[in-house]
Amino acid sequence: MSMGSTKVLEESKQGEATMVEGPDNGKKLYLESYGCQMNFSDSEIVASILAKSGYTTTRNAEEASLVLLNTCSIRENAEQKVRNRLNHFNNTKKKNPELLIGVLGCMAERLKAQLLEEEKLVDIVVGPDAYRDLPGLVEEVTDGRKAVNVLLSREETYADINPVRLNSNGVTAFISIMRGCDNMCSFCVVPFTRGRERSRDPESIVHEARYLHQEGYREVTLLGQNVDSYRWNVTKKGEVIDPEKETVNFAQLMEKVALVAPDLRIRFSTSHPKDMTDDVLHTMARYDNICKYIHLPVQSGNTDVLKRMNRGYSREWYMNRIDAIRRIMPDCAISTDIIAGFCGETDAEHADTVSIMKEVEYEFAYMFKYSERPKTLAERKFTDDVPEAVKQSRLEEIIKVQSANSLKRNKASVGQTFEVLVEGVSKKSDGKLFGRNTQNAVMVFDRGDIEVGTYVNVKAVDCTSATLIGEVVQQ
Ligand code: 5AD
Ligand code: SF4
Repeated sequence: MSMGSTKVLEESKQGEATMVEGPDNGKKLYLESYGCQMNFSDSEIVASILAKSGYTTTRNAEEASLVLLNTCSIRENAEQKVRNRLNHFNNTKKKNPELLIGVLGCMAERLKAQLLEEEKLVDIVVGPDAYRDLPGLVEEVTDGRKAVNVLLSREETYADINPVRLNSNGVTAFISIMRGCDNMCSFCVVPFTRGRERSRDPESIVHEARYLHQEGYREVTLLGQNVDSYRWNVTKKGEVIDPEKETVNFAQLMEKVALVAPDLRIRFSTSHPKDMTDDVLHTMARYDNICKYIHLPVQSGNTDVLKRMNRGYSREWYMNRIDAIRRIMPDCAISTDIIAGFCGETDAEHADTVSIMKEVEYEFAYMFKYSERPKTLAERKFTDDVPEAVKQSRLEEIIKVQSANSLKRNKASVGQTFEVLVEGVSKKSDGKLFGRNTQNAVMVFDRGDIEVGTYVNVKAVDCTSATLIGEVVQQ
């Protein structure tokens, strides 16, 4: 699930090494992360756990004694990328036999035997719920054993671990509010790799937000595979677990975090169309510091395809949610995820995806070709029968529609003034800063004497399909 800096995480920071300082045992950790924001957030937990046993991180793999790849299984090409990196590090290992190589995250759970035994590519394999075990496992493997823990948990939320902020700009941070997923979308491997859904104690979430604010952070993104099903002290069936304790749903959690400080912005990802309530939308509308931006993956614009995807909603239901957003927050930006060429998708069904994109006019979209994943419902029930060339041409068509939508949306913003949280210096020009407005649009503007981490009013004077070019308005 991610725009602006979040966009960067999804698109270009993939595999970038992450850094942390800590008490020194002389050993260095090189940690690369792939995939979704949740994986980047998990890497911060991993760095925190290993920092406690004395590991400092390095951006230079050559000086590392431990290389960890936090991996993603969502599409086949994500796994391929990691395999290439593993081969690369195995070559390094030939020169430095002491080097330990570990696989974390979704591929760990999926490929443990293969990675350890058949391909002998790695020494350590640790699944998303077993990171507390890492220091022990590193020790085991140092004693010559292969170290594995891919057990999934029903309870682990790492609530008590204060993540080390990696590659941080000191302004924006992720807070993981839940783990796992129970939805079983038929295309998705996540429920198998990350296990059952569980929510994190709201007190620990608010505490983390408060701490981040004290440290100077000005934006937190609450992360979960489906934030709308966040539930504390309530069973799936809606029964209260402990009557003495407070029950908290996502709208209530968001409100608690919004109340931490008026200058701490709140974002969240990912929303699920089947579960997103008007209550959540009204809470967003009530607080200025809850950003007016929703990532609402549609996946397909055709009800039959949605049924095959086991998404739990129809096109009409989805459009009803869009209408509710527009009614309750007319200025709210919406982005989406789309899959092209799912099993059995006909030309007419694909045309429905194009038409829903034109109807909603998303600000932004992540668009993918369907990639069959082992063990998923789709793999068991359907045939991956849309030819590659057709998937490709459908993907190109939706990308074209989205570029037009993004440009249209950005053009409509030109002339308007927005409050922007300054996140850093623009990659393209030292003399420029960048930040995002509440709708998550990236704005670039002259640096002047403005400081990172402050709010400024910026008037959009020009745009591309990806960026608003702005001028700072004197306040
Ligand atoms: N093939 C292609 N895209 C997928 N996604 C999830 N699983 C698959 C798959 N097997 C996409 C969905 C999801 C996003 C995170 O990744 O659009 O919302
Ligand atoms: Fe996968 Fe669906 Fe869960 Fe998202 S909601 S992680 S797409 S199963």
